[in-house]
Amino acid sequence: MGERPKAHDSARRGRPTKPGSGVTLGADPVPRSRPKILFVTSEFADYVKVGGLGEVSAALPRTLRNKCDMRVLLPGYRDVVSQLQAVEIVGHLPSCGGIPACDLARSTTGDHLAVYVLLCPQLFERDGGPYGDATGADWTDNDLRFARLGLAAAQIASGTGDPNWIPDLLHLNDWTSALAPAYLAWSGRSIPSVLTIHNLAHRGLFARHRLDRLGIPHAAFDIHGVEFCGDISFLKAGIFYASHITTVSSTYAQEIVTPEHGCGLHGLLRGKLDQGRLTGIINGIDESWDPLTDPHLARPFSPDDWKGKDANAQALRRTFGLAVSRGPLFAIVSRLVHQKGLDIAIEAIETIVRQGGQIVVTGKGESELEQSLCQMARQYPGKLGIKIGYEETTARQMLAGSDFLLMPSRFEPCGLTQMYAQRFGSLPVAHRTGGLADTIQDGVTGLLFPELSLGGLLGAIYRSLDIYRSPPRLRAMRKAAMARPTGWNDAAANYASIYDSTLTAA
Ligand code: ADP
Ligand code: GLC
Repeated sequence: MGERPKAHDSARRGRPTKPGSGVTLGADPVPRSRPKILFVTSEFADYVKVGGLGEVSAALPRTLRNKCDMRVLLPGYRDVVSQLQAVEIVGHLPSCGGIPACDLARSTTGDHLAVYVLLCPQLFERDGGPYGDATGADWTDNDLRFARLGLAAAQIASGTGDPNWIPDLLHLNDWTSALAPAYLAWSGRSIPSVLTIHNLAHRGLFARHRLDRLGIPHAAFDIHGVEFCGDISFLKAGIFYASHITTVSSTYAQEIVTPEHGCGLHGLLRGKLDQGRLTGIINGIDESWDPLTDPHLARPFSPDDWKGKDANAQALRRTFGLAVSRGPLFAIVSRLVHQKGLDIAIEAIETIVRQGGQIVVTGKGESELEQSLCQMARQYPGKLGIKIGYEETTARQMLAGSDFLLMPSRFEPCGLTQMYAQRFGSLPVAHRTGGLADTIQDGVTGLLFPELSLGGLLGAIYRSLDIYRSPPRLRAMRKAAMARPTGWNDAAANYASIYDSTLTAA
């Protein structure tokens, strides 16, 4: 099961090499000079977004369009289907085990990016988020929902989806599409695939008794397959079967091969790294993060016009009901989850306030964190303002108006918010981990603290207060942070080169 057949064998010309191996798909593609890439994702910011994955999925395929024939595949959640413009049914995807059959629809975004959507109402058309209901509880059939997505990608790559377009390579993202290379392998196909890990902590774990309903051959429930500590892990299967693994920063790529950050998958990932099949590629950010042109800001500004930044700070204080102040303004813009270390940030609030600082917070997530933040806001009226929820306009105004962004993440595969903050002259104060270590130059474009503890964070906060008291230093750091490049060109070039080498090796 461990050895993948070579792409130039009979599998690529249409017939499964392992008939009867459990999964039957269709005809195989032949790579061309401008490779056809199917980018498979459970979030796509045009229609649906929970975090950074949605933004990456909207930006990266668009930037890669000049090098590759890019198309996106995503589930037809209610919110997606309701926003599609013209829709054409291009194919029918058969069932497998308990995974229902469904239609494959094709649509395009306003800027002509082709998007395939899985029309499977019993799995996707419901109120709530992509992964759970309005209370935040995971959908109990997430195994079927995201097995449907992975299987669909495998079927499309095998020619069973759109007869007019068969991808040369699958680009999967996170556990939600990670079963695709596994379904291909079980059907004897060797279509090249790249799996990007945006967050290793979500391993897509399900009980073993679900093997049959997921159409997984029992022989694949093995250390060399989908098995992980007695459960099925979609992500582990993807890491095992995909041709190449990427993750979203170089430091995170080094971290996930260690027991501390490897979530139990470090051994497998270490093997990939040693084989040259694990690469870190840092995310870019959208060019709309420009303080001179962003229409959401109280006033546009640039490094030559600090009055504009001050105007945004004043507007922000008003919006959050804070007192007029000349002290430093800290922001937290985050999903309120354990990963982000906000329990530690909450403990630091008292010190910030005592030192004459103010804080604005926006986010939503774990109710315990939401409640402690709301309680702190009642304790410090005029000093701490909070908005539970997430609204991009508010987030932009917060980054434009604040002096510092707190980001004490326990781990951070890449992180986009610290880069947004830098562009808007708000200096990130962050734990030296993952993408934060790769995008923040300590003392130049932000502040990093090495050890994740209240003491570590407070040390960095005291440093930020010193910087705030020295306007020339503050301006120099803001200027350096704002000068960090935006855009996705570098990342896209790196992904294109991985596609190329993966196709060549196949
Ligand atoms: P992550 O994806 O782990 O949340 P990133 O920094 O990569 O971290 O991505 C942050 C993006 O997530 C933001 O730009 C925004 O689109 C979204 N986001 C941040 N906070 C929230 C929130 N509270 N609710 C919903 N989306 C949020
Ligand atoms: C995940 C990670 C975050 C990363 C994002 C996009 O949500 O937590 O660090 O920036 O994916 O790759």
